[in-house]
Amino acid sequence: MDLLIKNGRILNPAQNEDFVGDIRVKGDKIDAVSENLEPEECRVIDASGCYVMPGLIDLHVHLRDPGLEYKETLTTGANAGARGGFTTICPMPNTKPPTDTPDKIHTLIERIKKECIINVLPIGSVTLGMEGKEVTDIEGMKREGACGISEDGKSVMDSGVYRVAMQQAAKSDIPVMAHCEDINLVRGGVMNLGEKSKELGMNGISNAVEDIIAMRDILLAKETGARLHLCHCSTKDSVRMVEEAKKEGIRVTAEVCPHHFTLCDADIIEDDANYKMNPPLRSREDVEALKEGLKSGVMEVISTDHAPHSAEEKSGGFKNAPFGIVGLETSAALTMTELVDKGIITPLDMAAKMSYNPARVIGIDKGILAPGKIADIMIFDPDEEYTIDVNKFASKGKNTPFHGKKVKGQVKYTICGGKIVYEDGKAGLNND
Ligand code: DOR
Ligand code: ZN
Ligand code: ZN
Repeated sequence: MDLLIKNGRILNPAQNEDFVGDIRVKGDKIDAVSENLEPEECRVIDASGCYVMPGLIDLHVHLRDPGLEYKETLTTGANAGARGGFTTICPMPNTKPPTDTPDKIHTLIERIKKECIINVLPIGSVTLGMEGKEVTDIEGMKREGACGISEDGKSVMDSGVYRVAMQQAAKSDIPVMAHCEDINLVRGGVMNLGEKSKELGMNGISNAVEDIIAMRDILLAKETGARLHLCHCSTKDSVRMVEEAKKEGIRVTAEVCPHHFTLCDADIIEDDANYKMNPPLRSREDVEALKEGLKSGVMEVISTDHAPHSAEEKSGGFKNAPFGIVGLETSAALTMTELVDKGIITPLDMAAKMSYNPARVIGIDKGILAPGKIADIMIFDPDEEYTIDVNKFASKGKNTPFHGKKVKGQVKYTICGGKIVYEDGKAGLNND
């Protein structure tokens, strides 16, 4: 049924528009965006007091399917996305087996059409089997629909191999999404190196673990002309390096995850692996630099690094549990609470960093509210306050340090291709 969204605060970063108005949706497309539209034969949604923004786009999620379906499946991951306001999510290739061939991208896309209620655009791996040795068929994977390439979960440590991959990515004009971690420097680290790691008796991960590879990747992007997107930046020097690289005209973009701008390592009170992720929660100084980078625009994307694990796996404490926390269902609220409500970024910036800018990174015609565009829309109440409750998550993963946190900002509707795929207060999403 056609929709008329009335009286919302329309946030459309593509045109720098921020005004109260209406949007009419006909079929799967936006028909009109204007100050006052007359209702026709359609369902009317009252969006008074709400933001109406382009559907959120997450460039960085882990859906665990195939191979680790007990953690998450394509269906539950997409449902979690819909509940979080996302209309497009991009799963990393570190599944079992990894997504490393054009065939596997093809199979995934066929399954996604049947199993997912939102757009899911897979990312292919950089090397075969994610073993760091042989570069994949990047052009072939792009042809089948891969939106980027990444070895997320680790870095390709052989710079020679990575350069070849970057050359091919440049030729195919596909972004390289980089997880920056010098594996030889980690030395069994499980949290940020600092007072906290000493206090808890854990091995630490220094900032250099990330910064060395971030710098290497920027230099390789300069040499090859590849489009480099730095994943989950967590250090103050990564912000500085991205800023300088951009000034030099190197094609680099960067993302920050909500946990890295919300928490620092001092917030870890005990040996609770719901605070364990890679890269780790850093120092207060790093957090301030990330916020500064988001404010200035150096860091233009907010992604979640949604990394579901089972409760049993996460019960192992910092020393034994796997890295990663879920993020799809807390991201918009944390961005609202920590950045918009505190005046660090504007509501329009939020729409840019969570939708318009990520769309530009992967080169898709989304993140725009204009007649003729696909109707991917998110309606968000910025004033609604509530307590995060993992039991309400559509994701199979309940691993988050934010259970019990009071936040502001509730997703009211997620509309994907003109269909309402999530509506707050309505019966849950089917996760069977
Ligand atoms: O925390 C993380 N979890 N970081 C990664 O790089 C990988 C991810 C995962 O796959 O669980
Ligand atoms: Zn990563
Ligand atoms: Zn990741």
